Amino acid sequence: MSASLRRPRVLVTAGPTREPIDRVRYLTNRSSGRMGYAVAAAALAAGCDVDLVTGPVDLAPPPAPRGARLTVHRVETARQMRAAALPAFRGCDLAFHVAAVSDFRPARFVRGKLKKRDLAARGGALVLELVPNPDILWECGQRKHQRQLLVGFALEAADGVRNALFKLREKNLDFVVLNGPSALNATRADVTVLARDGERISIRAEKSRIGGQLVALALERWRRQLHKTKATIR
Ligand code: CTP
Repeated sequence: MSASLRRPRVLVTAGPTREPIDRVRYLTNRSSGRMGYAVAAAALAAGCDVDLVTGPVDLAPPPAPRGARLTVHRVETARQMRAAALPAFRGCDLAFHVAAVSDFRPARFVRGKLKKRDLAARGGALVLELVPNPDILWECGQRKHQRQLLVGFALEAADGVRNALFKLREKNLDFVVLNGPSALNATRADVTVLARDGERISIRAEKSRIGGQLVALALERWRRQLHKTKATIR
């Protein structure tokens, strides 16, 4: 069935990732998953089928209206998130990468529990070697085709617009949503949406409302894009 006749398929990544150090410890961040879940809820409410790839959060999956399909993929690490997100991206029309993916993971996993006494020889200091995780959004940007729309987030503590625009180009995005560290773990946020064509929209609201506005904006742009590619093919 042509993409304009069926339900749009949406991928959402949400929440933090956890990168294990040993059996009991991990590296993570302050993401609550609220923004990602708000985007997933809004996409379902707008009549889309949704693949929600989520790190560990304290939130219930959003309700799916009758007829809509919600598939929840629960993951912990960035590599697990990548393994779930890339196949879902292949079949989706729109993707929202809202997850706060840990950029690094410990180079080695300690099978049992890291013991203090084992560190005594090094003066009691623990030096963790970290290696980079894959950038899932960048990989999706590399694979993106004409009929897909890709939205990324940029969490910036300084020089927001400049850094966000850099991410927009480097990761081949259609929109980048700029927010600050205060948005993590909060119910409200203050975001600026920067579009590839230069358009800028500022939204300050509850995350649930921001989710609705982002989905409406992206769906409208995706439908327009689809129409344009069809007209070019004819
Ligand atoms: N992202 C991702 N995989 C990563 C890191 C980030 O998919 N390993 C995605 C996030 O989901 C978000 C976007 O990339 O949509 C930007 O994430 P952010 O943490 O703001 O920036 P980074 O690209 O990690 O760069 P930096 O930490 O240097 O700002």
